[in-house]
Amino acid sequence: MLALTASVLLLAAAAALPTNDLVISKLGGDRYQYMRAGNGVLHLVDTWLKVSDLNAAARYAPDTQNVYHLFTRANPTVSQPILIGANGVLGSSNFNPSRRTIMILHGWIDNVLGDVTTVLIPAFLEAEDVNVIAVDWSAGASTINYAAAVVNTVTSGEAVARFINWLNQSTGSTPAQFHIAGHSLGGHQSGIIGRNVNGNIACLRALDPALPGWITNDNKFRANDGAYTEVIHTNAGLLGYITNLGHTDFYPNGGINMPGCNSQQCDHDRCFYYLAESLRTGGFTGTRCATYAGAMTGNCVLWGNLQMGGLRPKTGSTGIYYLQTNAAPPFSRG
Ligand SMILES: *[C@@H]1O[C@H](CO)[C@@H](O)[C@H](O)[C@H]1NC(C)=O
Repeated sequence: MLALTASVLLLAAAAALPTNDLVISKLGGDRYQYMRAGNGVLHLVDTWLKVSDLNAAARYAPDTQNVYHLFTRANPTVSQPILIGANGVLGSSNFNPSRRTIMILHGWIDNVLGDVTTVLIPAFLEAEDVNVIAVDWSAGASTINYAAAVVNTVTSGEAVARFINWLNQSTGSTPAQFHIAGHSLGGHQSGIIGRNVNGNIACLRALDPALPGWITNDNKFRANDGAYTEVIHTNAGLLGYITNLGHTDFYPNGGINMPGCNSQQCDHDRCFYYLAESLRTGGFTGTRCATYAGAMTGNCVLWGNLQMGGLRPKTGSTGIYYLQTNAAPPFSRG
């Protein structure tokens, strides 16, 4: 409540200032960057936060605008949309609190029709009888204004945490049954959800979490946001975050350029194809590295292997890992 009041006050104060004043100029990286949206279109964006961005962000109301699309083995292709507080809808849905629940979060200018959800929903449903909830936060993510989308990543994450708390109270489903996987801006958002939920989420996965706007941003993904946290880096230092952020961090093929890809967007998206394959077949054995720089150069000689991805959290595991993949499916070399 204190944090909410503070941010409301900040917005009220901000509204009195000229609209193009910079609020935060050190969110990290170059100010103007070309970024590719979830729909593949390239945009030149201003990654620094301005008063006008806060005004734009203030119009996003995630508690009413986020839509939670439930998929289960009984409805694998047509979702049951659920809004927070809609107890009747939840009660008549296929949500089963005795099963594990997988949540999937898309990134910037993306929605539940994008590749991260269309790839991961069937992969999780094939691998286990789970509830899959694809979070549509496109009301916050689909602005061309990237800095506002970064702010919305935080408010959306807080709202998703309230949704999980509501599921907990309404159905008895516990945070220990949750596994959250988010791509790009959704990668950082999975950590924000974890640290705002009542309880400890079993597994949080950040899939090539975004770099622009997050270097000096305290809201970025953190290792202790969940009981087990894992990061898969596939475009590190460009669209994706460069340094290690989780209990475990994987840098397949060095984490920057993926075999079979000829664009940064392809590299940035490869992480969820790897995760989907790992749910079906396992594989992706990582070799332990001393540092992320070692992982990026494949200079890994430490004892200890760990599988990347997979259906189950590897609670208690830590470290930075390197592995090589094939250029096309099957990506895993074992
Ligand atoms: C909510 O989750 C907690 C674990 O964090 C659990 O102990 C509690 O029983 C759950 N609430 C309900 C109503 O089941």
